Amino acid sequence: MTSALFSPLPLRAIEARNRLWVSPLCQYSCEDQDGVPNDWHLVHLGSFARGGAGLVMAEATAVLPEGRISPWDTGIWDDAQRDAWARIVDFIHGQGALAAIQLAHAGRKASTHREWSGTGTVPAEEGGWPTVAPSAVAFPGYAEPSALDEDGIDAVIEAFAEAARRSLDAGFDVLEVHAAHGYLIHQFLSPVSNQRDDRWGGSLVGRARLLLHVVRRVRAVAGEDVPVLVRVSATDWLEPEGWTLDDTVTIAQWLREAGADLVDTSTGGLVPGAVIPVAPGYQVPHAAAIRERSGIAATAVGQIVDAHQAERIVASGQADAVFVGREFMRDPHFPLRAAHELGVEIGYWPPQYTRASWTSRPTLTADED
Ligand SMILES: Cc1cc2nc3c(=O)[nH]c(=O)nc-3n(C[C@H](O)[C@H](O)[C@H](O)COP(=O)(O)O)c2cc1C
Repeated sequence: MTSALFSPLPLRAIEARNRLWVSPLCQYSCEDQDGVPNDWHLVHLGSFARGGAGLVMAEATAVLPEGRISPWDTGIWDDAQRDAWARIVDFIHGQGALAAIQLAHAGRKASTHREWSGTGTVPAEEGGWPTVAPSAVAFPGYAEPSALDEDGIDAVIEAFAEAARRSLDAGFDVLEVHAAHGYLIHQFLSPVSNQRDDRWGGSLVGRARLLLHVVRRVRAVAGEDVPVLVRVSATDWLEPEGWTLDDTVTIAQWLREAGADLVDTSTGGLVPGAVIPVAPGYQVPHAAAIRERSGIAATAVGQIVDAHQAERIVASGQADAVFVGREFMRDPHFPLRAAHELGVEIGYWPPQYTRASWTSRPTLTADED
């Protein structure tokens, strides 16, 4: 059968072998708190590449130490981190997938506990740090951040550019700017968290300035050939006072002009307690609206768990590709299974696993090993 999900997607000079992609998934597993990815990250990301994903996105990776969500996050602000990522990228490439990295700064949501070891801000004596944000407005339950000044904002933009350069040196094929889920760039976008009255706040143009500066700098580092994606929260789910889908459609056009290739469409995360109608594919309409109304490519994510569901989303033109998070963690071989369920022949079943393939159904004799 022909499949939209399993058709390749060209992205600038490269191509993803299919449109079933691994969403970034924080692991909070740098036990030495040095931001250096380790064997956990190699096996975590490597198994998705072996499992047939078209693109494997590394988790939210901090561009500065103070940009980590928790002390256990990965980073890309130094060369030791770059070299550790290079080993993981090599393995992903060896399995035929594209390697992507999500560049991130957590802003006022930084310096927190990992979900299995506590809640709220980690105090300085336990390895935490003071946080920064557009305005001195705390995320409920977290420490109050200090408002970034002009020099601080310039340093953040520079850090994204440096992180992009290190990511390319590590061999990553695709760069993503994390502008979603209530982290620093989203804090600048939303009027709920950005109460500045200088050129980095106020109007939509002012609030979007940081994101556009970051994307332009990352594009300059990426050159003509490397795809740049931007993950957005298409709505704060706080209408009318929060960030809205209309705002997202407007900035999607600006993002295109700034050099972004695709909007990775998520929602929420700015404040706790927003009412979100979570259901299978609940963020697909946001991706479809961005794609249709702004003309930029867009992906959908959120409760996409089934081969036929994913196929329908791509085949109907609602998204150019789908990102999948938790279903990949439940089954790292989701694409191999999805291809079987859709009746698609793929050329990248791992040879070591041939005898486990559904399509070949080889018999196992007693003396085989
Ligand atoms: C354990 C875990 C870690 C996550 N880490 C990130 C992250 O680093 N960056 C990000 O943008 N989203 C992150 N997310 C959100 C996912 O990428 C995805 O958007 C969300 O889980 C919805 O998709 P799903 O229903 O397929 O899991 C995370 C989600 C989970 C469950």
